[in-house]
Amino acid sequence: MPNQESKKSCKFFAPKVFIRTFGCQMNVRDSEVIAGLLTTNDYRLTTSADKADVIILNTCSVRQHAEDKVWSEIGRFKRTQRPIIGVVGCMAQNYKDEIFQHAPNVDFVVGPSDIAKIPQILHKLSTIHYPLATKIWETDGGLRPEEVYHTGFYADRAHAYVVISEGCLNFCSYCVVPYVRGALRNRDYENIIREIEEAVAKGITRITLLGQNVNAYESPGHSPQSRVSFARLLEMVNNIPGLKEFSFVTSHPKDTTIELFKAMQELEKLKKYLHLPVQSGSDKILKLMNRGYTRKFYLELVENYRKIIKKGALTTDIIVGFPTETERDFQDTYDLVKDVGFAAAYIFKYSPRPHTAAAKMGDDVPQEEKERRHALILNLQKKISKNKQCYLGF
Ligand code: SAH
Ligand code: SF4
Ligand code: F3S
Repeated sequence: MPNQESKKSCKFFAPKVFIRTFGCQMNVRDSEVIAGLLTTNDYRLTTSADKADVIILNTCSVRQHAEDKVWSEIGRFKRTQRPIIGVVGCMAQNYKDEIFQHAPNVDFVVGPSDIAKIPQILHKLSTIHYPLATKIWETDGGLRPEEVYHTGFYADRAHAYVVISEGCLNFCSYCVVPYVRGALRNRDYENIIREIEEAVAKGITRITLLGQNVNAYESPGHSPQSRVSFARLLEMVNNIPGLKEFSFVTSHPKDTTIELFKAMQELEKLKKYLHLPVQSGSDKILKLMNRGYTRKFYLELVENYRKIIKKGALTTDIIVGFPTETERDFQDTYDLVKDVGFAAAYIFKYSPRPHTAAAKMGDDVPQEEKERRHALILNLQKKISKNKQCYLGF
């Protein structure tokens, strides 16, 4: 065991790591996991890219714009000061070693499932003599080791993101996530509860359960009796002593049930906030998107949510300009937004993504038209949000 003094001097020479995160909360949590792994391996975190020995960009591929931001960011890091540069996350999985051709200053590429290997990769790269620079990429996919979640690193002192499932196999036709995050894998409920208890012991009082489709959660078990549903998991989390408040994202309408609303209403620590992405108000477009529900189904869900949940807040995601979206289809979405009255809505212009089914449908709504539709819903939503009492609290 090193004594206090030698530990101090080690810290003094510890290489500095700068991590920049793009994309969703899942990536925010993955960046914390990477920070946790590296700090337990004697790296120090820095908020200054200029002073960093290692720069890690944790990337998103959900829309072209998200990728463009990363390419331009990589371009900013000149090679003169020689930090090690890594591209990790969804773009890493999407482009694998092609990233080195686009960006020769990148040294390593690691997909979301392989982040546990980053300390080992950095060790290899820092012991290899430059300029014989080696390129390393790890994009095998597969299961992450459970230990990555127990480094206990959370960027916020009071709030923690806790992953309950990874990946998604819904294959919404526009979405790249199944291709970059792989099939749905549920974490064992015992591990989730243990992680939360450990976090609470460190002073965390609020948590957000994370998954691409949390409602489809079912803890793996050897028999149907030993499996744990999402509603049961919520109950277990609610019972954790010391935890004050929790919430979850993201829900898929097709897997959202009245039973879930009832459980939400009963559990006193669970926030009544629900993010329920509708994507479109047109049945034709919903079908082409492979969303698995109709406009009527969605509106009935909203009605039930409002009947059961007191003081709730409903938010959504919308895509405008999906292939073949006519003025009529768009109007259906506009009317739905108006009728439901969301507390907030995130509105996106359709962006064709590699591998996806929609990419083969063409991208026939002109950019100016996408912008017009985007602005119309944005303005409508601004007016609605202004008039609403909001319980979001995020
Ligand atoms: N798993 C979550 C969200 C994933 S991505 C869910 O199913 O709700 C977040 C949002 O980005 C989506 O809800 C969708 O509105 C938007 N999005 C995904 N792919 C897109 C694309 N190709 N073009 C435009 N927006 C997209
Ligand atoms: Fe993408 Fe659909 Fe899965 Fe969400 S549910 S991550 S939109 S494929
Ligand atoms: Fe982006 Fe990957 Fe999340 S594509 S939205 S960072 S799962």
